[in-house]
Amino acid sequence: MTTPLPRFELAHLAHAELLTPDLEGSLWFFTELLGMRETARDRDSVYLRCYEDPYHHSLKLTAADQAGLGMLGWRTTSAEALERRAAALDTAGLGRGWTKGDLGVGRTFAFETPDGHAMELVWEVEKYTAPPELRSPILTRRSKRPLQGLPPRRLDHVNLMASDVTAHKEMFEQALGFGTRERVVDFTTDTEIGVWLSVNILGHEMAVMLDQTGTRGRLHHLAFWYGVPQHNTDAAELCREYGIRIEAGPDVHGITQGAFLYVFEPGGNRIELFGNSGILQFEPDHETVTWDLADFDTGLAIGGATLPAETYFVYGTPANPGQEKLLLPASAR
Ligand SMILES: [Fe+2]
Repeated sequence: MTTPLPRFELAHLAHAELLTPDLEGSLWFFTELLGMRETARDRDSVYLRCYEDPYHHSLKLTAADQAGLGMLGWRTTSAEALERRAAALDTAGLGRGWTKGDLGVGRTFAFETPDGHAMELVWEVEKYTAPPELRSPILTRRSKRPLQGLPPRRLDHVNLMASDVTAHKEMFEQALGFGTRERVVDFTTDTEIGVWLSVNILGHEMAVMLDQTGTRGRLHHLAFWYGVPQHNTDAAELCREYGIRIEAGPDVHGITQGAFLYVFEPGGNRIELFGNSGILQFEPDHETVTWDLADFDTGLAIGGATLPAETYFVYGTPANPGQEKLLLPASAR
C-alpha cells in the first residue's frame, strides 16, 4: 500500500484560459452579460476577473481556431508545496517543466493529465488591488460589484471530459492530494463514469466525466459562482433575451447539490453558472459517496430538469467534427 501524500498542498483553482474562435463574441458574453472586468490585453489574449476574484485575473480568453481549455492554474499552499508537488508530478511522468509564468502569474510548473489537459501549479501570483474608483467600502471585497450584466463573484470549478475517469482520479489523488467526494459507477461494467474532486472544503473544484465519444482531453465546462440561486434564474432570462443558448437548468444536481445553469458562450465553450455553494465538506476522513448509474435521476437533477443526451454527455471543447451543429437551434441542424 502506498503512503498517501500530504493533503492540502493545493489551495484552490486560481485561473483558467479558454480558447475561443470568436474572441469578440466571447468577450461580449463575459464582460457585458456576466459583467467581468478586463485587467489586461496581450496579443491575442484578454485577461478578465470577477469582482471578488483575489488575483490579477481568473480568466484568460485567447483567440484560437477551436474552442477549448488552454491552461488551468492551481495555486499551492506554499512555495515548498509547489516544489513537492512538482516532484510528485515528475515521478508520475506528467511533469512538463517550469515556465516563466504569465501576466499576474509568477513561475509555474506545467503538467498534463493522462489525457493531455494542460495545467500548471503556481505559488507566486499578483494579488489584485483595485484602483480608487473601483475600491469597495465592503472591505472583504476586492472590487466594487459591476453595474452591468449579472456578475458572478468568482471562478468556481472546472469539469473535464476524459477517456479514462479512474486514471485521472488516481493521478489527482496520488500526485496532488485531491479528495474524491463523489463518484458515479456503471456497475454493469464496473466503470467509473464521473468523479468529483476537491482540495479544500468545496464539494468539488474539479469533476472528471467519461467522454462517451472516446475523445481525449476535452473541456466539459468552466463554472463561475453566484452563490445565490435566484441569480441563475435571472441569468437564464438574460440568456434567453440576448441569444445565448441554454443547455439545461436552472435546477440543482443531487451530486454535489450544486445549483446549475449550463449555457454555451459564443465561442462554443460550455459555461456553468453556479447558484449556490453545493455541499461543503469538513470531514478530514470523509468517505467517497458512490452513485449507481442505474439509479441516477436524483444525482442528475433533484428538480427533474433534463440534461440533454445529445449534448450534455457528448459535447465538449474542442468539439468533435460535426458537433458544432449541436449548438444550433434544432430547426437549423
Ligand atoms: Fe459544474
